[in-house]
Parts: sequence; C-alpha cells; structure tokens
Amino acid sequence: MRPLVSFIALFFALTASAGEDLRVGLPKDYKETYTEYLSLDRIQNHDQFIRLFANDVAMKGADENGELLSGSVIVAEIYSVKKNEDGSVAKSLVNRRVKDKLLLLGVMEKQDGFAETSPSKINVGDWDFAAFKPNGDVAPKDLDTCRACHAPLTQTDFLFTTQHLPKR
Ligand code: HEC
Repeated sequence: MRPLVSFIALFFALTASAGEDLRVGLPKDYKETYTEYLSLDRIQNHDQFIRLFANDVAMKGADENGELLSGSVIVAEIYSVKKNEDGSVAKSLVNRRVKDKLLLLGVMEKQDGFAETSPSKINVGDWDFAAFKPNGDVAPKDLDTCRACHAPLTQTDFLFTTQHLPKR
C-alpha cells in the first residue's frame, strides 16, 4: 500500500505546476546566505505579510536602467497575519500587521537566455518564477499568473522592489 501512496503523491507533485517544467528551484541556504532587504505588509493582499531575501548577485544592485545582473535570485516568504477576535487584521503599536504562519515561498531567478527558452508567451525578460510550500515541495501554482502581474514592470526589471536594492 505505502509504495502506491508515495507513487501517487509523486505523480501529483510532478504534474502540479500546470504541466510546466520548473527552471527555478528553492535555494536551500537562502536563510543563511541571502540578505533580507525588505519586509512589509503586502500591498495587494490585505491579510498577508512578506519578507524579501536577495542573493549576493542581486545585492550588487540595479544599473541605471533598473536592470539586475544575470544570476540574481529573490526569495519571497509570504505569511498570514495575526487576527483580532472579530476576525479583523490585528495591528501592532507601529500600525503594522504582525506575521503569523509561513504560507508560501515565491522565487524569481534571472538567467541569461531564460527569455529565449521561456515556456510562456508572457514577457518577463530573463526572469522566471517558481512557488514552494513551507516544507520545500513545489506548490501547485499557474506560473503565468505570476508572470502576468510582474510583466508590466518593464522600468524596474519586472520587480516591484528594485528601488529597495542597491544601485550599481
Ligand atoms: C496580483 C499580482 C501578483 C501576482 C499574481 C504575483 N505577484 Fe509577486 N509580487 C507582487 C507584488 C505587489 C510584490 C511586492 C511585495 C508585495 O506587496 O507583496 C511582489 C513581489 C514578488 C517578489 C519579490 C521581488 C519583487 O518583485 O519585488 C517575488 C520573488 C515574487 N513576487 C514572486 C512571485 C511568484 C513566484 C508569483 C506566482 C506564484 C507571484 N509573485 C505572483 C504582485 C504579484
């Protein structure tokens, strides 16, 4: 019975990401080796909090066109937030949400050539996306929804937070 259960679990894990082969993995050591460059109440989700981590290449920063270097990786930890008894979002003494449970890890990676070999029609330059559960398993997400929301940000290399990274 058990091998069958694991086989079915593996089958769903492999088919979960809308049939797309992931080009981006979860950097296992990001907590130790990446820089946490920004943490904030999410701007498009009223009950979430986000922590953003950049690898050393991304921390070299954006050039005058807002472009990051190939090899840049950004990890986003998305959290639920503490609620009041009536279900409303609790605010701290500094009027900010208080992070609760880790829900999802979003990763963006930039590599020379990703644009040419993109599995999607949506242009996000040389970036690609992936999402993971807190235990590191691939999260079943349609990555075109990620691409579609980031695609308009052509002035900031498809990132919302480029201005919070250094300048090169
Ligand atoms: C509806 C719009 C929207 C969608 C869909 C979306 N994002 Fe984002 N993303 C944002 C916003 C806004 C931010 C800035 C931080 C915040 O408020 O959450 C952001 C920030 C990020 C960052 C930090 C780098 C940056 O752009 O500043 C990463 C990494 C990221 N998203 C990954 C993903 C992944 C992976 C997916 C798909 C699973 C995804 N995003 C889907 C809106 C979106």
